[in-house]
This record gives sequence, structure tokens and C-alpha cells, in this order.
Amino acid sequence: METIGLCSDHAGFELKEFIKQLLDSKGIAYKDFGTYSTDSCDYSDYAHPLAKAIEAGDVYPGIAICGTGNGIAMTLNKHQGIRAALCWQEELARLARAHNNANILVMPGRCISQEEATRVVNAFFTTPFEGGRHQRRIEKIPL
Ligand code: RB5
Repeated sequence: METIGLCSDHAGFELKEFIKQLLDSKGIAYKDFGTYSTDSCDYSDYAHPLAKAIEAGDVYPGIAICGTGNGIAMTLNKHQGIRAALCWQEELARLARAHNNANILVMPGRCISQEEATRVVNAFFTTPFEGGRHQRRIEKIPL
């Protein structure tokens, strides 16, 4: 697997640290784009650098976390090459990959357990894109 890109705001920091332990246990390399503490910050300051790195091919895929997941997903999806999917259940992560070829997994740090987040990450990593009619659909997303 390629190097994963990670980012969060303060509300997603603790889950991001947990995800780093999970990746370490799997021997998966990652680059952490911050934030690096629970000090209050703005999710967009971390989302834009991750999105640019994904678009440049420096890291793939990405995992991004804020409190609800909404602010960071909204920011990431402003980038034409990004398909960021907010997932709080395993099935959502599976379909985000199978149907949407999502390149960033977004999770809500304040609304998901570590156990569910582990299932979500595993599903995201192991599910291939189905292509076919879904390829046609994702090609119509960029403006
Ligand atoms: C931070 O308090 C919170 O607003 C942020 O993490 C996120 O949930 C915004 O969408």
C-alpha cells in the first residue's frame, strides 16, 4: 500500500492518533498533515494540504477527521480531484470505495467509537472500486 495521508482538527486529533497506532500495527506508512495537538484550530488549514498532496500523487488514500466530519469533508471536496466520503459505519466505507472510488475517508471523531472506526478503516482499505457504471458517474462529478 502507498503512503497514507492523514489530517484532522482538534476534535479529530485523538482518533487520528488512534488510527496512526492502527496503521503502525499493520505496517502501513503514513504522513501526518496535522493538527498535532488538541488545541483549538481550523480544519481547513489541514484539509487543503492533504487534498493537494492527494491530487499531486504524493499520498494515497487519505483519512481526515473533524468533530462531525462535515467541515473537513466540505473543504476537501472543493478540490476537483478529491472524492472525500464521510463514513461512520463499515457499510458506508465499503460503498464509498466500491461505488464512489473515494480517495479520502472522512470520519466524525466525536461521533464514532474506536472499534467502529477500525471496522470503517479496514473496509475502506480492502474494498476495490467496481468501475463500470460507477466510473461514468464519478467522471461527471468535477465542475
Ligand atoms: C469543532 O468544534 C467542530 O466544529 C469541527 O470539528 C467540525 O465538527 C466541523 O464541521
